[in-house]
Amino acid sequence: ETDPIQASTLEYIPLSDNALTVLRERYLAKDDQGNIVETVDQLWARVAREIAMVETLYEATHEEVASLEEQFRRMLASRTFLPNSPTLMNAGRPGSHKQYSACFVIPIEDDMQSIGNAVTAALLIHKSGGGTGFSFSNLRPKRDRVRSSGGVASGPVSFMKIIDGATEQVRQGGTRRGANMGILHVQHPDILDFVGCKTHDGQIRNFNISVAATDEFMTAVKEDRLYALINPRTKQPVKQISARLVFDRIVEEAWKTGDPGLFFINRANRACPIPAMGEIASTNPCGEIPLHGFDACTLGSIDLAKHLRIQPGDGEYELDWESLDQTIRLAVRFLDNIIDANDHPLPQINAMTRQTRRIGLGIMGYARLLMMLGLPYGSEEALRFTERLAHQMKAMAWRASAQLAHTRGVYPAWKGSKHEQEGRRVRHSYVTTVAPTGSISMIADTSAGCEPEFALVWFKHVLEGRKLPYLCDLFEATARREGWWHDDLIDKIAANHGSCRGLKDVPAHRQPVFTVAHDLTPEQHVRVQAAWQRFSDTAVSKTINLPCTATVEDVRHAYLLAWELDCSGITVYRDGSRASQVLNLGKAD
Ligand code: CDP
Repeated sequence: ETDPIQASTLEYIPLSDNALTVLRERYLAKDDQGNIVETVDQLWARVAREIAMVETLYEATHEEVASLEEQFRRMLASRTFLPNSPTLMNAGRPGSHKQYSACFVIPIEDDMQSIGNAVTAALLIHKSGGGTGFSFSNLRPKRDRVRSSGGVASGPVSFMKIIDGATEQVRQGGTRRGANMGILHVQHPDILDFVGCKTHDGQIRNFNISVAATDEFMTAVKEDRLYALINPRTKQPVKQISARLVFDRIVEEAWKTGDPGLFFINRANRACPIPAMGEIASTNPCGEIPLHGFDACTLGSIDLAKHLRIQPGDGEYELDWESLDQTIRLAVRFLDNIIDANDHPLPQINAMTRQTRRIGLGIMGYARLLMMLGLPYGSEEALRFTERLAHQMKAMAWRASAQLAHTRGVYPAWKGSKHEQEGRRVRHSYVTTVAPTGSISMIADTSAGCEPEFALVWFKHVLEGRKLPYLCDLFEATARREGWWHDDLIDKIAANHGSCRGLKDVPAHRQPVFTVAHDLTPEQHVRVQAAWQRFSDTAVSKTINLPCTATVEDVRHAYLLAWELDCSGITVYRDGSRASQVLNLGKAD
């Protein structure tokens, strides 16, 4: 008999109740009756073993495999690094999909066969725990000619509904619904239908949507010019339209519902080291990974807040660069192994992923790290620190990739790549990203991705309507240590929208250190995203959280700023703009 709630090895920070709840509900292996049949320690061990086994492909000895397996196990158990959910759920579990990636893009061509194939691909990928992105930009517009039937086309939005309906029927592992990203190029004639499809077509429930905005379009917005809508079937311009008019509609809809975001498609293709693989037209569902059609990416994120040490002299925290470098090296190897361990639902994806050997090494715990270092999130000081950190970490990650290339060879699509031109022998076409870490940050008991703490007291809807309460433990610990803690603080903070700003119970010099999402201006959010973009070879997942009172102008400003600061895209969310939201301020009812 195993005890399912047995916490991990004691030498590590013990798991919180919330982390255990998430693990029990979604990650620990269950039998047919739904009984949990493994401990948390067994989960780490099965994932470590499965991923270490790949080393035999590279002629590792039995001892070498065992040693690496132990290093992987320790990295997971200490939660200094965690791979994305599909790896934790599936790796080493008898009878489960050997599919360990979260991010996919499926290409769609302008014919029925291709649309049917995309539905099938989405179903299979969602079933294995992955999310899918699609560009609908190749589909002919609504009311365009269909030669074979003599009829008229129904357009991209109607095909999105087909995928949406199929997705609705599949729940991932019984608890999470498949996520989709839908992208449409800003020059597509149906762009205005697409921009409004979340409000006007209640049927689109399982898509995030983004407009693929070109630099030309953004410039036309700034200069208030017309631009051409182009029929993708004929490649002919059909109409000139005001860029401002389209942009206005985009920001109004984003203000109302959070959708659409923008995907800066020229930037993604400029940054692509493997242009010979074709154009990148879409990202995965949360936007952090622009991908070629049939490519996939496994994410894994390092908890920055677990890479600190106490300075010998004054007892303050400082970043432990050495341990960070060690974790990065091990994490890059772990993710490299996953490429070989993966058996994707479609043969094209197996072929593509082994050509490009993309990995998505990200971070979490950034807001906690700043709190522990005493740097106010979004401040000039924190931004300068972040750029230095992002720059260093990226260099470390690419060094790890180059070291692997030394023993295992360069990625096959390296021939003809920009890496070849630059004379850099590396193992991967892409290495770094910043993922949302929505679930794994809860398992790691840390803050999500590069996001600020949502609030100091908050409730998170996970698991089908259940709420998990959070109180920022660093805040409480600081208050107790400095002698200003009292139990009423929880209610006062909850009544103050989760913030300690302006509360006379909290010392003025401490208030900025405990900055939360709604204390920040939209501009500060965008600047943090831009700073992390320096670390990311791909994109950065970040939600520009706006208060309920934010205006359409605030959204417009944020969207323009994101482009000016060379972000890869942008997503906003205005508090309360959706009936059911994941993060909720205030107290549980
Ligand atoms: O924390 P976790 O590893 O579960 O995932 P995340 O970092 O929040 O999201 C990473 C990626 O997983 C997203 O960009 C999606 O591609 C995919 N995902 C999904 O398919 N379905 C969800 N419900 C959540 C995430």
